Amino acid sequence: MPASRRGSGSFTLTTGQTIAIHTRTQDEEDLPHATKKTMADHLRKYESLFTLTPQRMRMIVEAFTETLELGLNKPNQIVPMIPTYVFGWPTGQEKGDFLALDLGGTNLRVCLVTLQGEGKFEISQTKYRLTEEQKQEDGQKLFDFCAECLNTFVETNTGEGAGQLKPGQSLPLGFTFSYPCSQERIDHGELIRWTKGFGAGNTEGRDVAEMFKKSLEKYQLPIKLTALINDTTGTLIASHYVNPKTKIAVIFGTGCNAAYMEHVKDIAKIEHLGIDAGAEMAINCEWGAFDSFEHEHLPRTKYDTIVDDTSNKPGEQAFEKLISGRYLGEILRLVLCELIDEGVLFLGQNTYKLEKPYCFDTAFLSLMESDPTDELLMVIGIFTHFFALETTLAERQFFRALAKLIGRRAARLSACGIAAIVSKMGYLEEGCSVGADGSLYNKYPGFADRVHEGLQDIFGDKGRNIVTYHAEDGSGVGSAIIAAMTKHRKDAGLYLHV
Ligand code: BGC
Repeated sequence: MPASRRGSGSFTLTTGQTIAIHTRTQDEEDLPHATKKTMADHLRKYESLFTLTPQRMRMIVEAFTETLELGLNKPNQIVPMIPTYVFGWPTGQEKGDFLALDLGGTNLRVCLVTLQGEGKFEISQTKYRLTEEQKQEDGQKLFDFCAECLNTFVETNTGEGAGQLKPGQSLPLGFTFSYPCSQERIDHGELIRWTKGFGAGNTEGRDVAEMFKKSLEKYQLPIKLTALINDTTGTLIASHYVNPKTKIAVIFGTGCNAAYMEHVKDIAKIEHLGIDAGAEMAINCEWGAFDSFEHEHLPRTKYDTIVDDTSNKPGEQAFEKLISGRYLGEILRLVLCELIDEGVLFLGQNTYKLEKPYCFDTAFLSLMESDPTDELLMVIGIFTHFFALETTLAERQFFRALAKLIGRRAARLSACGIAAIVSKMGYLEEGCSVGADGSLYNKYPGFADRVHEGLQDIFGDKGRNIVTYHAEDGSGVGSAIIAAMTKHRKDAGLYLHV
């Protein structure tokens, strides 16, 4: 029997928990483990299920591009292509103090942003973790909690000096609310549907800006809600503030989505508003909804179908469910559960811990893929520590290969979305920068490289002209810049129309 080896390390899960792991390899002979050959056979099967050929990707891009056009032409489409009333790019000279509130999929963040002009800014912030109950209980209560956090932030950040609010100072606030909302103006937004597992009652179909203002009134805060924005729109504007080559922004995090700048003349569904046809307006695509309900274009496996059927919103967010951080761990877990049921994995071991839905964090896929040891000590750690399961090297190699298949598919599908916007806007020849943010993009090893590789598979060599980069903080800085741009427009008497 080979000598066992030890390893240790620590990492942080998306739940915020930091875990220290101390492991040693175990090549014990006493449990009936799957052989190397069995694992290799299974892997081949999953390879064919999760691999996207360049040809298939090009077909997806074609359908995606048509869907984007449809959303611009007609109201209430599945991919709603939401006009944001954010007109044009920032000048880079926006200045002043702004509050930003960011209700994301996992946290609530309050920021004080000081824009200094010339693309520079300072930011101070506080984060609050949202509980599962808060995501599901009454919507007004959720907004009350937002206002309460703002209140605490304002109280603790009022004083003298840089990064401080002056006593009595009244501030404009940009509220980043990253769920699909149809907007009639920039400080309005009717929630179309919750995504990312949220389900707070009495909120869908209502104007969340109004609901939030009601909560602000309770605390009598010296704050004016200036703009309601999506995280992608914020990312688009913040990224352009520091890198004017940016034309598209994408978020690959708990959810996934994109925004870009569109010519008003090409948004047929708002023609009746009489906005200057020469103007430009940011569009929040809400592309996570691509292929929802009909499931005609995306390569769904049976694991994806289970994820969808057992979600709180079956049929919806079909694209997002194949890509975003909320679901990748669950897809891998479902494959493992199938192999347990087939009697391939963990024979003679108690697998109950792995049978709990959503117990396999997407961070585990990142960790497995980045494990630098030959014995895959990190993988041992994950399975023993969290699931009390012993594994052999052949099994661990299989788990890692599976993570790679699922992570790679997500990145290649993401490339399809980006390619659809690039094709629609004709950006391929001149090239463009794509500001990208979110836990998957920032933390998943090789995600960006795989997106770039996907773009080249779709467009050939010219795909190199499209480059993603780690974006500026859209929900904080972007929201502040948009609040500044909006204030400027209002002061100039240009509220809605250019
Ligand atoms: C939401 C989008 C958001 C994205 C990224 C999706 O679930 O519908 O509004 O931009 O997640 O946070």
